[in-house]
Amino acid sequence: MPCDDRSGRTRARVAAIATTMLFLFTLNFKCIDTENLGLDNVCILKDLHPLLIVTYKYLTMSIHTIRVPHNERLMVRCREIGKYKFIGDSLLHCRNGTWDGKTPSCVSTTAISNYTEDVPPTIDFGLPTGSAVVEPTGALAVYPGSILHLECLFARKLGNPEWTWTSTFRRYLTGWAIAARERDLKYRLSIYYAKPPDSGIYTCTTPKGLNNSIQVRVVDVQCLVLNVPEPPLISRIGGSRMGNSAVFECPVGYRLEGASRITCQYNGKWSTEMPHCEKIKCSEIIIRNNALLVLNEHNSTYGEKAIFTCMWGYKLLGSQSMTCEGDGKWNGSMPTCQKITCPVPEMPQSGRIIEQPRYTNKKQSNHGRIYKVGALVRFACQPGHQLIGEAVTICTENGTWSHDPPVCKVRCPYPGDPPHGRIAPLKFWYKPGDNIQVTCSPGYVTPLEPVKKPSCRENGIWSAPPPPCRSYKEV
Ligand SMILES: *[C@@H]1O[C@H](CO)[C@@H](O)[C@H](O)[C@H]1NC(C)=O
Ligand SMILES: *[C@@H]1O[C@H](CO)[C@@H](O)[C@H](O)[C@H]1NC(C)=O
Ligand SMILES: *[C@@H]1O[C@H](CO)[C@@H](O)[C@H](O)[C@H]1NC(C)=O
Ligand SMILES: *[C@@H]1O[C@H](CO)[C@@H](O)[C@H](O)[C@H]1NC(C)=O
Ligand SMILES: *[C@@H]1O[C@H](CO)[C@@H](O)[C@H](O)[C@H]1NC(C)=O
Ligand SMILES: *[C@@H]1O[C@H](CO)[C@@H](O)[C@H](O)[C@H]1NC(C)=O
Repeated sequence: MPCDDRSGRTRARVAAIATTMLFLFTLNFKCIDTENLGLDNVCILKDLHPLLIVTYKYLTMSIHTIRVPHNERLMVRCREIGKYKFIGDSLLHCRNGTWDGKTPSCVSTTAISNYTEDVPPTIDFGLPTGSAVVEPTGALAVYPGSILHLECLFARKLGNPEWTWTSTFRRYLTGWAIAARERDLKYRLSIYYAKPPDSGIYTCTTPKGLNNSIQVRVVDVQCLVLNVPEPPLISRIGGSRMGNSAVFECPVGYRLEGASRITCQYNGKWSTEMPHCEKIKCSEIIIRNNALLVLNEHNSTYGEKAIFTCMWGYKLLGSQSMTCEGDGKWNGSMPTCQKITCPVPEMPQSGRIIEQPRYTNKKQSNHGRIYKVGALVRFACQPGHQLIGEAVTICTENGTWSHDPPVCKVRCPYPGDPPHGRIAPLKFWYKPGDNIQVTCSPGYVTPLEPVKKPSCRENGIWSAPPPPCRSYKEV
């Protein structure tokens, strides 16, 4: 596919960025113009075996294709050393666009093939004491003094495999493992209290001549002693020799930032930095509902509780509180506040309502007025009626009126004393059917006629005015 100018430039830029990052793998350039890029003599490794692990510039990865510039080196190994036989060179050097070294690959062994005769044997290793790590080249770096068992996995019924080694330091004990589970499958070579001269290549060859090898390097590599970390980080440090690990965790309410386990590597460096504990934090509470208030001080960390309330005149809908949980989320959702209103008060018969406009708001309701908390309503009765009950009622925080509406009862009002006389009984209101009589001051009398006393009628009107008191002299 020909490259047009534009795509060529774009790719050049991508490639340049990638070069500065020092890894060009997986970027599938179809048309790199290597002259313009200054990437003359780039070496490419492609269609890599999926179990190969490539280390380039201390970066270990499992990839399909990798490109490196001239004079750079790669280290390659199989993912599970011993379980796959490594073919090719584990150290590859890019020279003028070609690899100095044989293309690597991984081949299945007996542990994969169910112990068939036609594959190389698997080599397992175990360390009853001491420690070891796998190097990027696939070599097994063993800390001096360790006991190392190399197990050649082979079906005993098919014959005896053979261990050979390159070291001339000493002879090693070889033979079938003793334990019942192992003795028909594991042909063992043991290195007791490994010393640097034990370093070398250990090969197991099957009766059919198929072999697999493991390179052992006994090296005294130590990492910097780890300081016991400050709380809250909890650690279990297993030493600082090559192969030793430290494991970390955080108490409840904290999240571990970083690796939970770090290992002292072949190069004397810890696999990564010590982690730390980060207090679990929930999102800040942002209040969008103007009437909603947070009652308590809180910092949104694990276990903290936010308690809500609504401004006066509003009621809370939803949960009154939320707790910050271990997953960094508030349990529950924010409540909302709803304006409290009272229903339109009942109008007493023969009465009326005197509105208090300050607390009412016409526009919000289809049915008339909205009565907010605190709204005050006054009742009055029509003339000829007495108000029984409370003349004033207030909209409470419960959305109910403080008092039942009053009733207006038909009553005759106190008619007033006539001149020089008094009426009895003396009351503010008289029920229908009530009569009054007039008592005149000394020297005065009521006329003999009419005989009927004024009485309160059913419509709240006196049947007659109180009779006048007249002077003796006039009668
Ligand atoms: C690399 O190739 C160039 C020309 O393609 C040549 O001049 C140079 O000598 C080569 N270098 C090596 C180390 O082979
Ligand atoms: C492995 O081989 C043994 C006999 O050699 C057979 O009994 C067993 O089923 C095989 N296992 C698998 C997973 O193929
Ligand atoms: C392992 O086998 C290969 C052939 O597959 C042979 O070239 C090599 O020499 C053998 N290695 C040992 C140590 O026997
Ligand atoms: C948050 O508040 C708790 C208790 O109120 C306190 O222990 C903690 O130190 C506070 N955290 C931060 C980051 O302020
Ligand atoms: C949130 O957690 C607290 C404390 O664990 C609990 O009391 C509360 O009921 C929970 N709320 C919800 C909505 O789950
Ligand atoms: C509101 O209602 C609660 C219970 O329903 C009651 O205890 C309280 O006294 C009421 N408050 C008012 C102001 O009516």
